[in-house]
Amino acid sequence: PIEVPTAVREAARAARRVTVLTGAGMSAESGVPTFRGAKGGLWEEFDPMTLASQRGWDADPDLVWAWYAWRIGLVRALEPNAGHRALARWANGGGVEVRIATQNVDDLHERAGSEVLAHVHGDLFALRCSVCGAPFEDEPEIPAEPVQRLEPPLCGECGEYVRPGVVWFGGMLPEGAFDAALDACLDADLVLVVGTSGIVYPFASLPDIARGHGVTVVEINPEDTDLSSGVDHVWRATAATALPALVEALEADPA
Ligand code: APR
Repeated sequence: PIEVPTAVREAARAARRVTVLTGAGMSAESGVPTFRGAKGGLWEEFDPMTLASQRGWDADPDLVWAWYAWRIGLVRALEPNAGHRALARWANGGGVEVRIATQNVDDLHERAGSEVLAHVHGDLFALRCSVCGAPFEDEPEIPAEPVQRLEPPLCGECGEYVRPGVVWFGGMLPEGAFDAALDACLDADLVLVVGTSGIVYPFASLPDIARGHGVTVVEINPEDTDLSSGVDHVWRATAATALPALVEALEADPA
């Protein structure tokens, strides 16, 4: 495993309540493309305002649904990575409370065995009617290959189009999700910020708020981000190499 920076290892050893804030970089090593940052990001090909906004959906639901149907198929075909698994091991190892608040709409944390406190930007798999809001429990048609357009499923209650349970750009966050993430940052003794560019608010404000309350904040990201200058320690490493190394170091030398 890679070397754990001493300051990070010591902060983690002393921690009893750890809150982990994750973004797309957490799932990158599982094969889920990030939105920005790394080259080849999905959104270089797609205009996010078209794809992930109420206006974009209203204008062209077949285009937006095609992209999310592809992402559902993609995530289902992929596996949690060593970073997801390390967080689950840490939480299940006892002695430390590990709470995860994620911007990710995938279910890879859960499939690795973690409980997720909050999906602040929603849940790809929580399909619901775009008009009456009724949950859609059937299996949507998922194309084997990405298609440019695909008609969304129809709501069993009202016949209108079904949409993914993600938060549209500029849309309302799921009730209570941000507050749960905020509370988990305020009463933590360590916050790890993993794999996020720190661009999208209000989620991006959490590290700064935590730090303002005297909580130690560590960023784990191979690249510099908008958050880097405002954290206590920056660990330039990837999620699937840093988190297993950290958890192994803690298991080898518990506090
Ligand atoms: N390990 C850790 N971090 C990584 C890795 C990796 N293997 N690969 C890339 N990263 C980092 C990138 O350096 C970048 O800082 O992950 C970050 C990904 O940033 P974004 O693509 O902007 O993803 P995120 O910050 O989660 O986006 C926030 O924007 O598009 C909306 O709602 C969407 O939730 C998303 C939000």
